[in-house]
This record gives sequence, structure tokens and C-alpha cells, in this order.
Amino acid sequence: MFKKILFPTDFSDASQKAVKYIKQLKGAGAQEVIILHVIDEKELLVLSRASDQYLQITAHMENEIAKDMAAVEAEMIAEGFRVKLQVKTGKPFTEIMMAAAEEKVSIIVVGSHGKSNIKEMFLGSVSENVIRHARVPLLVISREIRQDT
Ligand SMILES: Nc1ncnc2c1ncn2[C@@H]1O[C@H](COP(=O)(O)OP(=O)(O)OP(=O)(O)O)[C@@H](O)[C@H]1O
Ligand SMILES: [Mg+2]
Repeated sequence: MFKKILFPTDFSDASQKAVKYIKQLKGAGAQEVIILHVIDEKELLVLSRASDQYLQITAHMENEIAKDMAAVEAEMIAEGFRVKLQVKTGKPFTEIMMAAAEEKVSIIVVGSHGKSNIKEMFLGSVSENVIRHARVPLLVISREIRQDT
């Protein structure tokens, strides 16, 4: 049923909570996971204005992203999924919607929150936008999720 999964991640703790549930989707017929990380163009702009070490910092960032991606990929491969990795630069929400359409995914799995994880916020802005605009089923993993679920 949920053959092709899109998992957009910022590698935050809140977003990594989704991994466990993606694995369980195997039982619902999932075969392939697209792991998508979007380098936020707004953050790059701020960085380029604030630091004269922009190139070194972005090179380091790319390295870290590759490592984080490889770690999630390994978990999925161990579970028997086919895996595709995508790193894009742009607006996270826009890139997520574009990937969902281009790849014709059957479900999107996101964390309720991400890196900012502000206590007072009911949802992060990326997950809120994805929920508002998705045209496929969504699984939103709460940051409050209990260990035993
Ligand atoms: N840059 C990104 N690339 C891919 N997926 C992302 C990215 N940012 C967020 N996501 C996805 O959206 C989920 C919610 O994150 P979101 O950014 O909305 O929350 P936040 O960081 O707590 O709040 P905000 O970004 O609005 O300050 C994450 O768990 C992840 O699944
Ligand atoms: Mg965020």
C-alpha cells in the first residue's frame, strides 16, 4: 500500500523519531525510501553574510550531511528497503513537495518538529506546510511519542 516513502529529514532528534515507524511500514508493503535533506537557502544566505569562512563552513556542512545521510541509509538498507538519497538546496517545504510529486511517492513521513523544536509551537513550519499541501497520505511522528509505542 505504502510502496514508496518520502522521508524528509533535517537529522534532528525530533525528525529521527520517524525512523522507527518507517521501518514498520515494511509490513504495509513499503519497498523504497527516498531520504531527502534540504539545505535551507535562507540559512546559507545568512551564513554568507555573516562569515568570511563561508566556503569552509559549507564544505564542512556537506560532509556532515553526507555522514548523516549514510547513517539513515544504512538503517533502511538493513531493513531491506531500496534507498534513494537526495540533497537539495532551496526552501525545505518547496523541495519536499517537488520531490513528492516527481517521485510519485505513496506516503510522506515527517517529524512534528525539527531542529528548532520550540516548546510552544504546536508544529514546526515545515511540517505544518507539508500537512496543509500534501496530496498523498502523511504520517506525522510527534516529538512527544512514547518509547513503548
Ligand atoms: N531542511 C529540511 N530538509 C528535510 N526535511 C526537513 C527539513 N526541515 C524540516 N524537515 C522535516 O520537517 C519536520 C518538521 O521540522 P520543522 O522544520 O517544521 O520544525 P522546527 O525546526 O521545529 O521548526 P521551524 O523550522 O519552523 O523553526 C522534520 O522532522 C523533518 O521531517
Ligand atoms: Mg526547522
